[in-house]
Amino acid sequence: MRIFIDSANIKEIREINDMGFLAGVTTNPTLVAREKRDYFKVVKEICEIVDGPVSAEVISAEVEGMVIEAERLAEIHPNVVIKIPVTEPGLQAINILKQKGISSNATLVFSANQALLAARAGAAYVSPFIGRIDDIGNDGLAVLSDIIEIFDQYMIDSEVIAASIRHPMHAVAAAKIGSHIATIPYSIIKQMIKHPLTDVGIEKFLHDWRQAF
Ligand code: E4P
Repeated sequence: MRIFIDSANIKEIREINDMGFLAGVTTNPTLVAREKRDYFKVVKEICEIVDGPVSAEVISAEVEGMVIEAERLAEIHPNVVIKIPVTEPGLQAINILKQKGISSNATLVFSANQALLAARAGAAYVSPFIGRIDDIGNDGLAVLSDIIEIFDQYMIDSEVIAASIRHPMHAVAAAKIGSHIATIPYSIIKQMIKHPLTDVGIEKFLHDWRQAF
């Protein structure tokens, strides 16, 4: 499973990228709005830092608007992937973008059916929102597992991005299920790195070393 960061914060992205395991970035309108900066500049800067797909989402709800926005965003950098919500116009836009050679990430996916349709429409990536499915009392990981099973069964080459990851065990479960990618917030990546026994171990090694020399 490849690791993406779900962030639009340059400092966070740079810090995580420096550790060498980052394979891409996803943003969304909420994350970008939090930065209070020019959208295009933020996306460009992210692309200059991370060598991998960078998802930038459209705001329009109609096909034409989505395609116009997508074309503008795609001009920023060859690694830009356009995030399109799975709606009827969204699927049409995914189809048009595919024909134009623009890569898309079907977002706000909450069911295996939405994932299947988006993949068949031409999305390069589909993003089931595990945490938000859990939030409404359903099983986000079960949806993720269904999607992986269906894509495997039919050799669908769209990649699945486990999104809306809320805690480190979501990442473990997504990896075990076979998700191609997980997009993970900065704070959760930090939790994944940390283990109390690592800290205790370092302290003990240092203590023993200092006593001997
Ligand atoms: C993914 O592409 C989304 O930006 C993200 O994972 C949404 O997560 P949230 O449900 O925590 O907002």
